[in-house]
Amino acid sequence: MRTFKPYRHPNAAAGCHDTSVITHTAAAAAEALRAGKLVALPTETVYGLGADATNADALARLYAVKGRPTDHPSIVHIADVAEARAGWASAWPDSAERLAEAFWPGPLTIILPAGSRPDPAALGGTGTVALRIPDCDLTREAIRLSGTGIAAPSANRFGRVSPTTAQHVLDDLGTDVDLILDGGPCSVGVESTIVDLTGSAPRVLRPGAITSEMLEAALGVALSTSLETAPRAPGTLATHYAPRSTVVVIGAVDAALEMTDLRIALLADASDPRLNPVPSHIVTLLDTSTSSVLYAERLYALLRAADDSGADRIVAVLPPVGGVGDAVRDRLTRAAAGA
Ligand code: TXA
Ligand code: MG
Repeated sequence: MRTFKPYRHPNAAAGCHDTSVITHTAAAAAEALRAGKLVALPTETVYGLGADATNADALARLYAVKGRPTDHPSIVHIADVAEARAGWASAWPDSAERLAEAFWPGPLTIILPAGSRPDPAALGGTGTVALRIPDCDLTREAIRLSGTGIAAPSANRFGRVSPTTAQHVLDDLGTDVDLILDGGPCSVGVESTIVDLTGSAPRVLRPGAITSEMLEAALGVALSTSLETAPRAPGTLATHYAPRSTVVVIGAVDAALEMTDLRIALLADASDPRLNPVPSHIVTLLDTSTSSVLYAERLYALLRAADDSGADRIVAVLPPVGGVGDAVRDRLTRAAAGA
């Protein structure tokens, strides 16, 4: 059974809890979406800030609240595969069918030529649409009941750390979000893999839990590794996913042991004997575990806790290459590029 902590609004007076923007029902979320409101939705990856992808006014407010440039497209979330072929995309190649069959619902976003249903404001002038069916029953039900597709970038301000709980969304967006559908903490923890099917060969634009090896196995062809003509994808900007404090990434914990002139918040495997006892310059030790899957699940909550710890630097030991560890390495490297 899932338990829910009481929500504290970031602007609330001491001792006062605000739950007025929280709902646990798909029908309430769907009704708000149909009315053009901004509704934060849980997914298996991170929480999205959703708006009706056919409603230009709702999309304008979405971009304003997020602080995102209007020429950056948003992922459109749909409830089932039939929708993709019913106007959201204008083409449905065999490669899309294979990927949808293998990975939807799930943490995979597929870029295709746009159909007639998405408002151009959701597409950032690309002429293409990024589609995803999230692996979250509550959100799929909300989308299904809304009768539309839902444009939903991650529910954080542009360039900042993505939210993986309803409280994170409340902390970031406060009263700028009309409703938050609370589905508990996200299980994958890092954003979906994005694969572009509009070029001559399929190409990964952002790594996630679905790895290149998994995509190639499902597609039966090799992915393109060319970097030319990269479409606008802010998640692929050098600086992104950044906490307020400076982030430094290291390959092994030894480098952190030597940073004795700084007070650091350290993301590392807390069972490492070199951290027992915890050296005094490490003011906060945040346990990544030895598993890349758990590291991914915890990543954004750990970065938020590190930010709140008052340390001079956030230092993160990278997980090994491979699997979802590649996505964690990607996000941490981009967070550190802001330094
Ligand atoms: O896991 C996820 O993908 C989460 C959840 C909420 O689904 N969403 C997410 O959205 O991470 P966002 O907006 O933070 O990142 C989406 C990325 C951006 O880098 C965006 O530029 C890119 O997808 N994107 C969206 N539509 C695109 C398109 N038509 N062509 C190229 N890139 C696109
Ligand atoms: Mg994002």
